Amino acid sequence: MLDLKRQYRPLHQELVDAVSHVLETQQFILGEPVAAFERAAAEQLGVAHAIGCSSGTDALWLALAAAGIGPGDTVLTTPFSFFASVSCILRAGATPVLADIEPATFNLDPKAADAVLNGPRGAEIKAILPVHLYGQCADWTAFWHLGKKHGVKLIEDAAQAWGADWNGVKAGALGDAAAFSFYPTKNLSAAGDAGMVTTNSDEVAERARMLRQHGMRRRYYHDEVGWNTRMDGFQGAILSVKLKYIASWNHARRMAAKKYHALFHAAGLAEAGPYPTHGLVLPHEVPGTHHVWHQYVVRTPRRDQLREFLAARKIGSEIYYPVPLHLQDALASLGYREGAFPEAERAAREVLALPIFPELREDEQQTVVAAIAEFLS
Ligand SMILES: Cc1ncc(COP(=O)(O)O)c(C=O)c1O
Repeated sequence: MLDLKRQYRPLHQELVDAVSHVLETQQFILGEPVAAFERAAAEQLGVAHAIGCSSGTDALWLALAAAGIGPGDTVLTTPFSFFASVSCILRAGATPVLADIEPATFNLDPKAADAVLNGPRGAEIKAILPVHLYGQCADWTAFWHLGKKHGVKLIEDAAQAWGADWNGVKAGALGDAAAFSFYPTKNLSAAGDAGMVTTNSDEVAERARMLRQHGMRRRYYHDEVGWNTRMDGFQGAILSVKLKYIASWNHARRMAAKKYHALFHAAGLAEAGPYPTHGLVLPHEVPGTHHVWHQYVVRTPRRDQLREFLAARKIGSEIYYPVPLHLQDALASLGYREGAFPEAERAAREVLALPIFPELREDEQQTVVAAIAEFLS
């Protein structure tokens, strides 16, 4: 599914030098290695501030808290994402409400979001948290209008979308604040857990910096109860090295996605979407967006059987995500039942992520496509 060693080998010496520099300077927490990464990251995204922290999950919580979301507030998000997209709202002391997804992109549907904002709970909602799922931005034109119309903040879950953009504006620079994850399988990845908040607001940035260090603006003077969620120096140094290559890696992912499209079409396996009948519905890049293909996710009706068939041939695949968030045991208290979000529920039954990473070879893609063709024949 993903061979991280192929990325590591050519970078070995550069990474060893970066890690060794941290050891020489003994700057293990924040410090210059993290500050240098924050500056380079902000410049690359075209955003005023980047604040390193210890995971994508913490970055989501920090982004919400720094944007002023807290107890008594309600935040609208998607039921089809990683668990942290909802748990961060609870962690901030706020209440999540959900709206269904668009079947073609799997992202939060702005029309469904608008319906919730116009509904009985609309007045409580203080922020929308769209997720740029699989590396493609949620429909930001629509969310920007919703933000203005309803007077709510927009917080991006950009965990899977380093380098993606919406009409030329990078993920991370679109909303009031955004959160990134550098979990090792992400397209820009650390050597452990790490995350980042980005924002164009001086105020949000200042609060995020304060909250990531136990609410301290001055050492040992605590203005608020924050948390310890600092980025460590090794991660900052490693991420600074990888930041130089991420544009070329994202380009290679785009080429691999294009190759899959061509191979699936040539094999006659691609069906018109958004729902599959017997073959595959291929992922779709919305015009005006720049998808970074963190995942290449097809829809297929006999998904579980296909996955087993591929596994028997040593071809990795993954289901992101098998259970929509409103049906997770841990979130039962939100009060949603099966049938509440039919698009998310259907997606959870049909999605399958195929191997995609910058170093994936064409012959490997041909093997994946040939195996799927054999299964469907
Ligand atoms: C959409 C999304 N949000 C949030 C997170 C949380 O990031 P982390 O694993 O770095 O805490 C992830 C990563 O798994 C993710 O994919």
